[in-house]
Amino acid sequence: MWLLLLLLGDAASRCLHDETQKSMSLLRPSLSQLPANFRSSFLTLPDSRDPQPLRIQTCYIGDPGSEGVWDPEGDGMRGRSQAMSAVREAAQRIQGILAVPPVQGPLLLSRDPAQYCHAVWGDPETPNYHRCSLLNPGYKGESCLGAKIPDAHLRGYALWPEQGPPQLVQPDGSGVQNADFLLYVRVAHTSKCHQEPSIIAYAACCQLDSEDRPLAGTIVYCAQHLTSPSLSHNDTVMATLHELLHTLGFSGQLFKKWRDCPSGSSERENCSTRQQVIMRDEWGQLLLTTPTVSHSLAKHLGVLGVSLGVPLEEEGPLSSHWEARLLQGSIMTAIFDGAQRTRLDPITLAAFKDSGWYQVNHSAAEELLWGRGSGLEFGLVTTCGTGSSDFFCTGSGLGCHYLHLDKGRCSSDPMLEGCRMYKPLANGSECWKKENGLPPGAKNPHGEIHHSQSRCFLANLTSQPLPGDKTSHHSQNPPLKEEELTGRCYLHQCTERGAYKVQLKGSPWVPCLPGKTIQIPGYFGLLFCPWGRLCQTNEGADAVTSPPVSLSTQGLLFQLSLGLAAPGGYTLGKEQREELTEAVLQALGSRAGTGRCYFHSPSITANLMFTVHMWKSPGCQGPSVGMLHRALTLTLQEKPIKVYYGGASFTTEDSKLLVTPDSNPSRMHLGLPTGLCLIMLILVCALGTVAYQKRATLQVGPSPSYHSQALPGTRGPAGGIREV
Ligand SMILES: *[C@@H]1O[C@H](CO)[C@@H](O)[C@H](O)[C@H]1NC(C)=O
Ligand SMILES: *[C@@H]1O[C@H](CO)[C@@H](O)[C@H](O)[C@H]1NC(C)=O
Ligand SMILES: *[C@@H]1O[C@H](CO)[C@@H](O)[C@H](O)[C@H]1NC(C)=O
Ligand SMILES: *[C@@H]1O[C@H](CO)[C@@H](O)[C@H](O)[C@H]1NC(C)=O
Repeated sequence: MWLLLLLLGDAASRCLHDETQKSMSLLRPSLSQLPANFRSSFLTLPDSRDPQPLRIQTCYIGDPGSEGVWDPEGDGMRGRSQAMSAVREAAQRIQGILAVPPVQGPLLLSRDPAQYCHAVWGDPETPNYHRCSLLNPGYKGESCLGAKIPDAHLRGYALWPEQGPPQLVQPDGSGVQNADFLLYVRVAHTSKCHQEPSIIAYAACCQLDSEDRPLAGTIVYCAQHLTSPSLSHNDTVMATLHELLHTLGFSGQLFKKWRDCPSGSSERENCSTRQQVIMRDEWGQLLLTTPTVSHSLAKHLGVLGVSLGVPLEEEGPLSSHWEARLLQGSIMTAIFDGAQRTRLDPITLAAFKDSGWYQVNHSAAEELLWGRGSGLEFGLVTTCGTGSSDFFCTGSGLGCHYLHLDKGRCSSDPMLEGCRMYKPLANGSECWKKENGLPPGAKNPHGEIHHSQSRCFLANLTSQPLPGDKTSHHSQNPPLKEEELTGRCYLHQCTERGAYKVQLKGSPWVPCLPGKTIQIPGYFGLLFCPWGRLCQTNEGADAVTSPPVSLSTQGLLFQLSLGLAAPGGYTLGKEQREELTEAVLQALGSRAGTGRCYFHSPSITANLMFTVHMWKSPGCQGPSVGMLHRALTLTLQEKPIKVYYGGASFTTEDSKLLVTPDSNPSRMHLGLPTGLCLIMLILVCALGTVAYQKRATLQVGPSPSYHSQALPGTRGPAGGIREV
């Protein structure tokens, strides 16, 4: 059960899950209580056929009596059509993501014997033992979260004498064709909606198949919100998707039913219920610990090889949401932050893979920017206030939301447990909305532009001179105080992945070098160019103006060397060096925000010199090698790479660019010194008391300092670190 609360005066909506799902009984198919001649011939058990896109059939259930009561003006019809179009859109999206072995024949749901039957035959010797001997006279049929399930969707039931054939009460329904999941939809003003006026919708799962895969559920939309202008269609679709994902398996109630299926096996009978899905670590943090999910988080944080559980929000004994400090912006965090700021992220998709019920199309995942490549200590209550990560902020000043779509104020919420981030302003924060701009003719000293291609930049630009400035003497303006840095909306244009330029009112386009501050002609002050946030995907591709640098890859070779400085006597075997090579490569790739296709033949020598050749393999998507190389050099100078390996942490300390003669100068359109580039990076190792043991015990692990602090809210420790 999932509740979406739209907090008034705030763009955020909170989701409370579990409250009602706990009181729902999850029905599984039992042996039919009908004799063979009354039973429909089809079975709803999935077989082991090849997985096909999940077919979600939706069914609107009108509330008898309530309709027309709250809404004499036809808002009900509007709400209903809005709900159904959101549900259909969400279901269609799911269809491109999840696949299951299709249900054979029409889908039929089970009836709950505890509902229709008052008593059963109790003598094991009699032929009709355990069959219904007395009907419940008050039986009103089956319902799912207040939605009355039509008899046509349900199996039949019968009354049995002590001996002999039964008396049929209701035959099997005709079932629902082409369905693997049935979603009932209600639009109502329930008591829950009444008590919590900010709830948008809530949902629950009601029926499972013989392998515990959810078969049916209900989503209830609180009527008053569906027609409210504060909720866009995309918001409703995203909220629906979140609810749907709960009913399909992302739920504290369903985690314990997840299945472990041997990889590569299509034999579904070889699956078993997972031994462990959630656990509490030694600091009391609830974690989801299944393999794909853990791997996916490690990849996201840039610490591949570390076995991390993914923290869940603290919501009582059960939890159905990701910890917001770590996975802000994911569709499965507890606070719904608007469709624009919500992503169907790879870690959430990994959870569906780990449920064992679905085959997952991972290419449907949307990139999560929050915390990407930020390392093991990201998102802890103990580190978020130290300034070590610019995803978090301190104080209460103004700035930009991390996606740079909105201006923000540094603030917190209950899910952030004291951590602070720039949250969108209550009103008019969106840079991409034209209507948030100043009225025409109004004074615009900061040169702001609101436009679909505008983004928020931290800046103190002003067209008015500062007091004391010679040019200000003829000005009528009162002396200005120095402009504070704040979030401002300026036009941006992606030039290549990770690179962009900006424009202010009346200014030319100015290239913005990620991580640098720039000045704008005609303005006083500075603008900060964010690193790693803008132009990461193909967002704004239509705005690309400079032609992509065309490059033949042959003959171009970049070599990136990392010198690994380590204390004396610190030696690694060949296999250990290979693993360290991989860890360094991961860190580089994650810093670059690119795939493996740029990096080739990595190696580490016996005296710990890391080398990787850089060129673009055919089909590789992204910036040119020159671009990437430049960006990497820049970021490595600014912020060293940290690699955790074998319980030690390696940090780049020094870097220099070496140039060697090039074999093919005519191809260099890169603005780089002609030649083969060699970046020397010195990695320093903080080793502490950790010593390497034989390979079998070697794992990439957190740094020793990570262990020495008993951090609350840390992720699970990596195994295999031996201390001597
Ligand atoms: C599935 O289980 C059966 C019996 O336990 C075994 O013979 C078979 O090899 C297993 N299949 C796979 C793919 O693991
Ligand atoms: C997988 O997802 C991608 C991206 O959304 C989509 O283009 C593709 O059609 C999907 N594949 C299937 C089999 O649905
Ligand atoms: C939001 O801003 C608009 C335009 O600036 C204004 O008309 C409206 O009253 C504001 N709303 C709130 C709740 O402050
Ligand atoms: C902008 O900020 C920078 C650094 O904080 C400061 O040096 C500069 O004077 C400010 N400029 C204006 C116009 O306020």
